[in-house]
Amino acid sequence: MLYDGCFMTRGSFSRRQFVLKAANGAIGLAAAQLLPRTVWAAPEPNSVAGAAAAHGILAGCAVNGPGLATDADFRRLVAAQAAIVVAEREMKWRDLRPTPETFDYTAADRLMSFAQQNGMLVRGHNLCWHEALPVWFEATVTRDNAAQFLTDHIHNVTTHFAGRIHSWDVVNEAINVGDGRRDGLRNSPWLRFLGPGYIDMAFRAARAGDAHALLTYNDYGIEADDAKAARKRDAVLHLIKTMKKRGTPIDAVGIQSHLRVPETYGSGLRRFIRDAHKLGLQAFVTELDVDDSHVPGSFAERDRAVAEVYSSYLDLVLSEGVRVIVTWGITDRYSWLTNQHPRPDGKPARGLPFDDNLQPVDAFNAMLGSFRRLPESPSRA
Ligand code: G3I
Repeated sequence: MLYDGCFMTRGSFSRRQFVLKAANGAIGLAAAQLLPRTVWAAPEPNSVAGAAAAHGILAGCAVNGPGLATDADFRRLVAAQAAIVVAEREMKWRDLRPTPETFDYTAADRLMSFAQQNGMLVRGHNLCWHEALPVWFEATVTRDNAAQFLTDHIHNVTTHFAGRIHSWDVVNEAINVGDGRRDGLRNSPWLRFLGPGYIDMAFRAARAGDAHALLTYNDYGIEADDAKAARKRDAVLHLIKTMKKRGTPIDAVGIQSHLRVPETYGSGLRRFIRDAHKLGLQAFVTELDVDDSHVPGSFAERDRAVAEVYSSYLDLVLSEGVRVIVTWGITDRYSWLTNQHPRPDGKPARGLPFDDNLQPVDAFNAMLGSFRRLPESPSRA
């Protein structure tokens, strides 16, 4: 039977890219013939995307905009390794909205063209967040005009890309249990202006602008086996449960997966994924990387520690039926971890499958290993 839900967008666009077949509970790719031959290149089996696709998984990475614009080696690496890409910054408010009246799609469209030329799907990130807002936001957006700004923005962006986005992160990081509300909602500008209803408003506007993209709620800090993550998981589940009850259009939950040595991941995350599935939602891993800033030692030792996290984490989420795996970057050359989680010894981060010389590290083999421990996809074309 045709399976139009897991890797898929919700409608006809999906047929251009991937058609999935569900057979005996396994989900496979049978896609190539539906893409124009000129743009489709089946991923090489020994790549992240290729090994993943052979086992029914859609895998890819976030793309750094300046790297995409200036670094041909980086472009080749992404083209070889990813079946789905997401802009690290170029679809956020700050990047799309130079002024309150204007939109600038130059950098985001560069990513879209790159993806199209290489036969890749695209995730949209993101439509509503408390960070990466333009500098004019604070002096311009008020309680009175916030609903208009939010819905106009979502309308403009989703219609610009309509039919070309696999899944949108509609609302990003709306939960922050530490802010002290019973519902766990973050005390963001959107909440202060519009109350909790801004979340439904954003999802409804996204569905109105793009009937096909899978609409995703995306958050971090829900992975670990500790009390803080458990509280956040509960709050996210409460949020998506109440959204479903109200009939708000939502298709998936994004588990960002910014992991950290020596955190551990286990039964809490398993239950969370099962609960999301019970609510009829898919679960995606949307921003996987591993922060090793507190692991002392040589690159070899650090790489081993990071790879162990990749293996055990991917084995866990894949065994729970997660079928979309996106890393937050593909190479340490462009990892946010180096700048934003610097090591005390000043050395670069080693949290991605390729190092800053674009060479595969242990995490790359760990990813392929986890994919290959799954059964072969029976319906692969
Ligand atoms: O380009 C300027 C540079 O000119 C300047 O010298 C420097 C000084 O701080 O800032 C540079 O811009 C920074 C940019 O990253 C490039 O490093 C921005 O300040 C900084 O805000 C931006 O951070 C991005 C962040 O989202 C906010 O947009 C990160 O690259 C990006 O990886 C991060 O991604 C987020 C996801 O969207 C949501 N989940 C968490 C994830 C990691 O924080």
